[in-house]
Amino acid sequence: MEIKGSVAVITGGGNGIGEAVAKYLSQNGAKIAIVDMAQDNIDRVVKDIKDAGGEAIGVQANVTSEADTAKFIKAAVEAFGKINIVVPCAGIIRDGTMLALDKETGKVSRKLGLDKWQAVIDTNLTGTFLTLRDTAEAMVNGGWPGLLVTISPVNKVGQVGQINYSSAKVADALMPKIIIGEFHMRGIRNIRCVGIAPGYTATPMLTGMNQDALKAIVADVHIGRLVEPTEIARLIGHCVENEAINATTLEITGGLCYPKGIAK
Ligand SMILES: NC(=O)c1ccc[n+]([C@@H]2O[C@H](COP(=O)([O-])OP(=O)(O)OC[C@H]3O[C@@H](n4cnc5c(N)ncnc54)[C@H](O)[C@@H]3O)[C@@H](O)[C@H]2O)c1
Repeated sequence: MEIKGSVAVITGGGNGIGEAVAKYLSQNGAKIAIVDMAQDNIDRVVKDIKDAGGEAIGVQANVTSEADTAKFIKAAVEAFGKINIVVPCAGIIRDGTMLALDKETGKVSRKLGLDKWQAVIDTNLTGTFLTLRDTAEAMVNGGWPGLLVTISPVNKVGQVGQINYSSAKVADALMPKIIIGEFHMRGIRNIRCVGIAPGYTATPMLTGMNQDALKAIVADVHIGRLVEPTEIARLIGHCVENEAINATTLEITGGLCYPKGIAK
């Protein structure tokens, strides 16, 4: 499918990876709906796209809400007449180990709160599900061909200290196979689904962290630096254009290695 002339809905498009994807697809001729909770970031990205000669709308919405999901889909279709590319980048972290022990007694002194578990599952898993379910509904009913994307940093493995995030994101990595299996069974042949699994990426979430911790992260990356959001955007653009990529999750990590030198 060509990017030029298509319509893309990007959740979490007000910052980081979503912003880069929105700008890249716009530069290549797509019309963009930016969905985010942060109105100031929506305004900034929409203005940047329009200043560069592109077409964009912004919708303030919470991806965990069915009503908000219906609202941003309606807004995109009213503005641009269809939806072809869907990239759910809205995501949060609420890190912590499941249990923490008291150093002196060895007994459990803290548990990961249900609030931290639920917030991450709601945004990163349920939010992705709602966005994909309801945009796919609109695309099938409208007869619009396209690509659904999921974002899964951890792909099939998890990260210690992120049981909530990893549980959601491992599920996001599985979705392309399940969705395409279902579409195949139902005879929906013109919508593909691809997962993108970025490694450590240079968004404010990472670049703003403790610089020693950042150095330790970069030491595990074979190319010796963080992945740039624009590199992820270019991969998503390639997935739009290359129909053979389907029902799989692609890693883009720069070569993430661990102490024994084994690529993850
Ligand atoms: N930064 C990394 O190293 C990295 C690596 C791999 C994958 N990811 C994933 O990529 C995605 C984007 O990450 P990022 O680094 O660009 O994050 P970010 O924090 O820069 O951007 C996330 C955006 O999502 C929005 N958002 C959060 N909750 C929302 C909700 N409920 N409804 C609507 N919008 C909401 C935020 O306002 C923000 O603009 C996330 O799913 C993240 O897990 C990040």
